[in-house]
Amino acid sequence: MARHVVAPVGEIPPGGRKLVRIGERAIVVFNVQGEFFALNNRCPHKGGSLCHGRLSGLVQSSEPGQYEYTRRGEIIRCPWHSWEFDIRTGKSWCDPQRLRVRHYTVTVEPGAALVEGPYIAETFPVTIENEYVVVEA
Ligand code: FES
Repeated sequence: MARHVVAPVGEIPPGGRKLVRIGERAIVVFNVQGEFFALNNRCPHKGGSLCHGRLSGLVQSSEPGQYEYTRRGEIIRCPWHSWEFDIRTGKSWCDPQRLRVRHYTVTVEPGAALVEGPYIAETFPVTIENEYVVVEA
């Protein structure tokens, strides 16, 4: 899988998102309190744009009359029919075993690590076995 530089970190502030195109794919990158996650922008229900969805969290209850609002900003709600997906995993909130949005690995890397350049010579592992030089090519 190829790696693609999609934005400087400062371009997607906490709580923000950015829609990027990588080849034919539209991918939305989210910043959740300094952590970055990427989902396919296409909702698996009818194709709504998750980039245009509303962020929410979870309301959980341990007993009647008690509730807690957790995971604020970690759930994206599709703007078309309100299906909800976990930004961290792409799993549907209502049916996590069957429904999910494809998610992609995201890393944050220093610019110096990315400017190595495109011209890298092809290399091969070399071993020495009893006076013979063997190249795996
Ligand atoms: S298209 Fe997303 S919920 Fe229907």
